[in-house]
Amino acid sequence: MPKLAIDGGAPVRTQPYPSWPQWDEGEERALLDTLRSGRWWAPEGSHVRAFEQEFAAQHGAQYGVAVTNGSAALEVCLRAAKVDWGDEVITTPYTFIATASSCLLVGAIPRFADIRPDTWNLDPVQVEAAITPRTKAIMPVHIAGEPADMDAIMDIAQRRELLVIEDACQAHGAVWQGRKVGAIGHMGCFSFQASKNITGGEGGIILTNHEEWAERCWSVANVGRQRHGEWYQHTGLASNYRLSEWAAAVLRAQLARMEEQAERRTRNALYLAEALSEISGLEPVRGDPRVTRNAYHLFRLWYGPEHFGGCPASAFAAAMNAEGIPVRRGYPEPLSRQPVIVERTAFIREKLGLPLEAPVACPVCEDACARGLWLPQNVPLSDRQGMDDIVAAAAKVQHAWQPSM
Ligand SMILES: Cc1ncc(COP(=O)(O)O)c(C=O)c1O
Repeated sequence: MPKLAIDGGAPVRTQPYPSWPQWDEGEERALLDTLRSGRWWAPEGSHVRAFEQEFAAQHGAQYGVAVTNGSAALEVCLRAAKVDWGDEVITTPYTFIATASSCLLVGAIPRFADIRPDTWNLDPVQVEAAITPRTKAIMPVHIAGEPADMDAIMDIAQRRELLVIEDACQAHGAVWQGRKVGAIGHMGCFSFQASKNITGGEGGIILTNHEEWAERCWSVANVGRQRHGEWYQHTGLASNYRLSEWAAAVLRAQLARMEEQAERRTRNALYLAEALSEISGLEPVRGDPRVTRNAYHLFRLWYGPEHFGGCPASAFAAAMNAEGIPVRRGYPEPLSRQPVIVERTAFIREKLGLPLEAPVACPVCEDACARGLWLPQNVPLSDRQGMDDIVAAAAKVQHAWQPSM
């Protein structure tokens, strides 16, 4: 039996997966042109405006408002919607902290609804059950690039008169039932942080099909100005969340590569999902059959320790890393239990004279945090050999830890 790399043996894979970010002379030219133009900020330049239009058009949205990052995009939407102290926003506990912290930063209370085991996205049944008279909005996350059940969420929102702010920060180009995510709800947010499927180092955008939301977001992102108002006329209390021309110039060049890369990720992810069926105890998240396209920002797996000699997911990830496969452990605990979220929620409730509540139980999310594994988006950007190496490494670890398999 070959010795595991973590025990000093030779790794299955020595070649790195494609490096990220990727760029070519398109990004170089865009940056130099921006430099030489002397127009480095959005009010004078052309890249931010053009990127807003191009990204919106590529996602079937009428309006785009570029901002500094995805966290800011979420906060801007909430402020534009006047979600305020004591209002509640229903969201998922299985996400990056910014989804919930954006709510708390405007004084609103995130109310967590559990996820579905087949998608790791919000369970619409739990969403409906979480609605209270304080609920103002639902914030679905298209986790890992897989669209949430937008049919059910939009239906609930319409019936209960709630706003939908999509957190599409991991879901560039993802498609739900033939519609790109991000403008299915009232507003949608994307991140262009360094790990995302297209990146400007940092960056974010809000998409919407509603002119009023676009103008309100623009105003919040521009220190409370009106788009056609006087420069020093501030009609709302807000801050500066504008994207720079540098990032927008790079993002426009990145956009040109997005479609081909999305196709490559899909091709390899589907092949990997099929190939992994020979490894018991490594089960790709099944996904919703109504999803037209998963952006595969993360390739997600359920890990079954009982098929790997009882070793926990963290030990498996470490062994795979040593074999040259960048398996990640993912979110360590549901956001509903994260101390900063719990403490700030309690602070807001206390200030408003509301009774304190214990964190809501989210058993599916607990399980996903305990047994979930990720492969980052540059992995399915490689080739067949890259996928075969994942299967070979998993089989090697399994044979070492559970020789009967
Ligand atoms: C689901 C989700 N929401 C929000 C964000 C925040 O985006 P940013 O890092 O650009 O602030 C991220 C990304 O990190 C994310 O993955």
